[in-house]
Amino acid sequence: MTRLADRLGLALPLLQAGMGAVAGPELCAAVSRAGAGGTLALYKEPPARAARLAREVAAATSCPFGVNVVPEVTGPATCLDQLRAVLPELPRSAFVTSFGLPDADAAQAVQAAGHPLVIQVGTVTEADAALGQGAAVLVLQGTEAGGHLLGRLPVDRLLADVRARHPDAVLAVAGGIATGGDLADAIARGADGAMAGTLFIPVAESTAHPTFKQRVIEAVADDTLITSLFHIGWPHRPHRVLRNPLVTADQRAPATFIATTRVDGREHPIPRYSAAAPGNDTTGRIEEMAMYCGRSCTRVTARHPAAVTVARLRQEYESARGPRTTSPSPANGTPARTSGSRKPTRIQER
Ligand SMILES: Cc1cc2nc3c(=O)[nH]c(=O)nc-3n(C[C@H](O)[C@H](O)[C@H](O)COP(=O)(O)O)c2cc1C
Repeated sequence: MTRLADRLGLALPLLQAGMGAVAGPELCAAVSRAGAGGTLALYKEPPARAARLAREVAAATSCPFGVNVVPEVTGPATCLDQLRAVLPELPRSAFVTSFGLPDADAAQAVQAAGHPLVIQVGTVTEADAALGQGAAVLVLQGTEAGGHLLGRLPVDRLLADVRARHPDAVLAVAGGIATGGDLADAIARGADGAMAGTLFIPVAESTAHPTFKQRVIEAVADDTLITSLFHIGWPHRPHRVLRNPLVTADQRAPATFIATTRVDGREHPIPRYSAAAPGNDTTGRIEEMAMYCGRSCTRVTARHPAAVTVARLRQEYESARGPRTTSPSPANGTPARTSGSRKPTRIQER
């Protein structure tokens, strides 16, 4: 279908982003069974638990899926420990995605185990380095994306720059993808596929907190903004989130505990300004927590099961790839054409 789909063995050239607090085994397996690249977030999971979660996915799907590491958060030693625990649990067809450049040891461990390494980058320099590390696929993240941001360029600009330097690289874009029309447009502009995160926050199998899901469904692009406010646990990395009372406040409130999340029966307190997103096991002042969300939220409208979301996107993509009349995207990164439902007003979507 495209080089991305061929390389990773997918029916559709779309990866679901690994997302802490959102992308557990159920979401990963459901997206994978639907033919896209379901991905399990390992984020800060201790190695033994990470291995157990990967086993759960492997038992629930026979289609390719990925596991996602965030070396910048775990540090290189823990990232390697996670991989050493998880890699033996993966079927041959699995892939590993990394948010930012992994350490050389981590990259080697993935490659020695025979799995394609997918590296998400935000700059041309990082793209060069990721290919130097042997990445099978690069994910080019633009500033439209939800979550932590690796660069400062809109996605179209980054794609054009990296494609010009690396005509044969397998490139997926991240940021601004929520419909099959978005995906088809990205491919028409030189990508081999895409990664989407925000699209999957509200789906039935996602473990995002119900309030987080609802806010994404209601939001339009201008309800998101880039901030550095939610720095505790992941400093020095700007992130795109939904506006909330903390983001718009004139004065900083103290970084006291505002919520609790439960993992394997143990309670973990969450301070105000924590990087942790609210999951379905979180209680407390959910509205004050970091709700990562991309500008694509404008076109995210439903809480369907993942299979329905992926099937809809596939249908839109296939019909958009019929006879094409699309002109190149304008310089501001607004997609030239999209399909799927939109949110003319927030009230209508409620
Ligand atoms: C709620 C949320 C959590 C995220 N967590 C991670 C993560 O744990 N690892 C990672 O590689 N990327 C993470 N990302 C970023 C995605 O990899 C990707 O860049 C982004 O979702 C693409 O933009 P979109 O959300 O507009 O589709 C996260 C994004 C969101 C929205």
